[in-house]
Amino acid sequence: MRGKFITLEGIDGAGKSTHHAWLVDHLKNQGREIVATREPGGTGLGEKLRALLLSEPMHLETEALLMFAARREHMDKLIQPALEAGKWVVSDRFTDASYAYQGGGRGLARERIQVLERWVQAGFQPDITFVFDLPVEVAFERLAKTGNVPDRFEQETREFFERVRKTYLRRAATEPDRIKVVDSRQSITDIQKVLEIHISTI
Ligand code: ADP
Ligand code: TYD
Repeated sequence: MRGKFITLEGIDGAGKSTHHAWLVDHLKNQGREIVATREPGGTGLGEKLRALLLSEPMHLETEALLMFAARREHMDKLIQPALEAGKWVVSDRFTDASYAYQGGGRGLARERIQVLERWVQAGFQPDITFVFDLPVEVAFERLAKTGNVPDRFEQETREFFERVRKTYLRRAATEPDRIKVVDSRQSITDIQKVLEIHISTI
């Protein structure tokens, strides 16, 4: 049987990495074969593109094109073969991030992103997507506490992240069957319970 494709989204600092790790362990404990991956990245070439995307200043359309170039490679080399082999794939970000960051954050027209999505994905979508939702202020505080050096996206303004957050929420409202909004102000254990319930439905 074909595996399931699960994606995690949200503004930087919303808790994706924390819950990605938990979800992978949780699903492995159920006896499933899991592929843990991320975007941009997930393949040798994709990780090289990630390094450029997170550090190098570039035109906003170049940024969108490289995100989808990395995604094309990711789908072909990792995601599709794993799903066909019956494995479940859990990805820290996927195409909703392109709509939220390049579209909402940077202002690239949604139609442009749709063209790339149709080209690269030809209808392929995650089985379920979690949007970890948090006020921008709280996400900034959590990120500051980690002490990590901010990358090119994490250096963006509060207004940028407000637009990113709004775009995620708008997308969730239009695709409620696929996109589940998780209130990230809850404790980590309460969030795990919410994820467990949703996962049991796919
Ligand atoms: P992201 O991957 O979305 O950038 P992280 O998972 O790295 O976010 O979380 C950012 C910081 O917030 C980490 O230090 C993490 O331990 C902390 N964190 C994550 N979820 C919660 C939560 N529900 N409550 C409090 N702190 C949290
Ligand atoms: P992220 O996955 O948040 O990594 P980390 O948790 O290690 O900081 O970083 C990836 C960045 O790439 C993030 O800021 C969002 C951005 N991004 C886009 O702008 N568009 C996309 O399509 C994707 C997949 C990511």
